[in-house]
Amino acid sequence: MDSVLKITGLSKNFGGLAAVSGINMEIYPGELIGLIGPNGAGKTTLFNLLTGVYEPSEGLIELNVDGKKQQIGGMKPYKITALGMARTFQNIRLFKSMTVLENVKLAMHKNAGYGVFNGLLRTSRYYNAERWIEEKACEYLQEVGLYKKRYDKATNLPYGEQRRLEIARALATQPSILFLDEPAAGMNPQETEELTQLIHHLRDKYKLTIILIEHDMSLVMNLCERIFVLNYGQLIAYGTPDEIKNNEFVIKAYLGEEV
Ligand SMILES: Nc1ncnc2c1ncn2[C@@H]1O[C@H](COP(=O)(O)OP(=O)(O)OP(=O)(O)O)[C@@H](O)[C@H]1O
Ligand SMILES: [Mg+2]
Repeated sequence: MDSVLKITGLSKNFGGLAAVSGINMEIYPGELIGLIGPNGAGKTTLFNLLTGVYEPSEGLIELNVDGKKQQIGGMKPYKITALGMARTFQNIRLFKSMTVLENVKLAMHKNAGYGVFNGLLRTSRYYNAERWIEEKACEYLQEVGLYKKRYDKATNLPYGEQRRLEIARALATQPSILFLDEPAAGMNPQETEELTQLIHHLRDKYKLTIILIEHDMSLVMNLCERIFVLNYGQLIAYGTPDEIKNNEFVIKAYLGEEV
């Protein structure tokens, strides 16, 4: 099977710091991938390279969706989103004063591919599109368990629900690949367990490839089928959860006595 994402020799330097250094990775359609490593290992920087926030210093990022291979390194984030890559952020980024529903609808408007403000506001095309957006947004909110709170302000949601709203908003761009940066951060064990089930369910329902960064090792080991380990910007190991748990380099660099 062809990979959906192929990363070759990818590096990002900040001044003298090699935050990401010579990374090679191949991800296959439908995989649930964990990306782990100590603080400052370069995990978020790698996500930022893959989603267009940063331009690579070196290396290639090849996306392969709908039978079309494209080099996306250095592309603008909105273009990468349009090609089917969506993400959530380590530091939650919601429009706090908007409602839960408005946050999801906005993500759809930005990616709907029709000019909402182009003077066609009163045509049936607009009404149809608008109704479709509302229905889809409600579907995504149902999926993440926030439908009943759709008229609440985003800022009034507890932390764990804000994280799930970010996932709904990412789904609203109808991605092929979903990147989750520490989705369980700040969640209690019960919320984390529910999140684990949700991520699994979303992967199956929307046929997503999911790559997640997490420090919660029980989530990573239970959920992910393959794990990549970064340390000081370099990929030091990859493999199944069992292989990673027993890898001496990973234990030394990150897992310590924990596992
Ligand atoms: N915009 C930037 N400018 C300068 N240095 C940066 C920038 N972004 C990240 N870095 C540095 O790159 C390194 C990797 O940071 P990154 O945020 O990718 O780590 P991380 O693995 O996500 O860590 P954490 O688990 O704490 O979130 C760190 O040393 C960080 O200080
Ligand atoms: Mg990070």
